[in-house]
Amino acid sequence: IADTVKEEVLPQDEQDFDIELQKFAASVEATEGHKQRRIALLSKLSRVLQTNFPEEDIELTTFGSTESNLALRRSDVDICIQTHSRTSKLQTTCQLARLLHEEGLVNIVCIPRARVPIVKAWDPSLGIACDINLNNSLAKTNTAMIKACVEYDARIRPMALLIKHWAKCRKFNGTKGKGVLSSYTITCMLLNYLQLTDPPILPSMVALQQNDYCKPKVQLNEKSIGSLFIGFFEYYGYRFEYESYVISVKQGYLLSKKTKVWDSDQNNILCVEEPFNNMRNLANTANEMEVMGLRLEFQRAYQILKRSRDHAGLVETFREF
Ligand code: CTP
Ligand code: MG
Repeated sequence: IADTVKEEVLPQDEQDFDIELQKFAASVEATEGHKQRRIALLSKLSRVLQTNFPEEDIELTTFGSTESNLALRRSDVDICIQTHSRTSKLQTTCQLARLLHEEGLVNIVCIPRARVPIVKAWDPSLGIACDINLNNSLAKTNTAMIKACVEYDARIRPMALLIKHWAKCRKFNGTKGKGVLSSYTITCMLLNYLQLTDPPILPSMVALQQNDYCKPKVQLNEKSIGSLFIGFFEYYGYRFEYESYVISVKQGYLLSKKTKVWDSDQNNILCVEEPFNNMRNLANTANEMEVMGLRLEFQRAYQILKRSRDHAGLVETFREF
């Protein structure tokens, strides 16, 4: 009977490293306390909106890591306010900034002229940061896609948490418009790497949508989390050809920069296509020097982890810059 059941068993050292990685991921993910504070912030905002716009149907939703189940202890809350009416009295992020100020929030930064205007703020009583936008429906759609990908295979979530945490520790993750890459962009880079591994762990987004974001019946790739995690750093450190290709989670493969006519723009050194708007390069925030630095960071992580697939290796990889 035993012969008929042929399940691949990972070698002991790989199993140990996977356990270590999962423990590490659990130590950086948002706790129940963080979740409670997020909920408290949402009720506070909801009350503010109701008090100031009692006649209106204003909807408050979260997106980003709060929704995709990728929230870290140090994540902010991404909030979308939908006004549902052209004649709404709430028209600008600056108006919103004023209301937040009156409510006692601090460090308020209003970015009205960004592609998506946002207000950033810190709530000192709850100890939580938020990014709020008005009427940005794309963010909800692409968050649903990230969520579906994270749920597709159990190995993806710990890897995504760790890679986002790594980007923050090594200081090249900033929020929209600031810093080298957003968490969202680096998550898309991870997803595309998993689409390109052989056999693929994740199908293209087009295929995922056609199957209504369903999970596979059989997963052909049985690699350990550890080997995939190290492979990610090796791939973007040494193998991915930054000069020639565009990362496309939508297609699940690489597109040519030339064909897309993305090869002559100074802002397109690293190219990561927004899955729901293929004219947008999510990585246009990184200049040539920054992409070079990023590549060295991938190489650094790979070299450390190749040597020491253990707790000490992880501590060194995530060392704050
Ligand atoms: N987003 C986007 N375009 C970008 C960056 C972000 O559309 N260039 C949207 C996406 O919907 C994404 C959300 O904003 O899911 C949040 O982005 P970000 O904060 O970078 O990702 P999180 O997973 O929330 O990361 P963190 O936990 O670090 O906040
Ligand atoms: Mg976020």
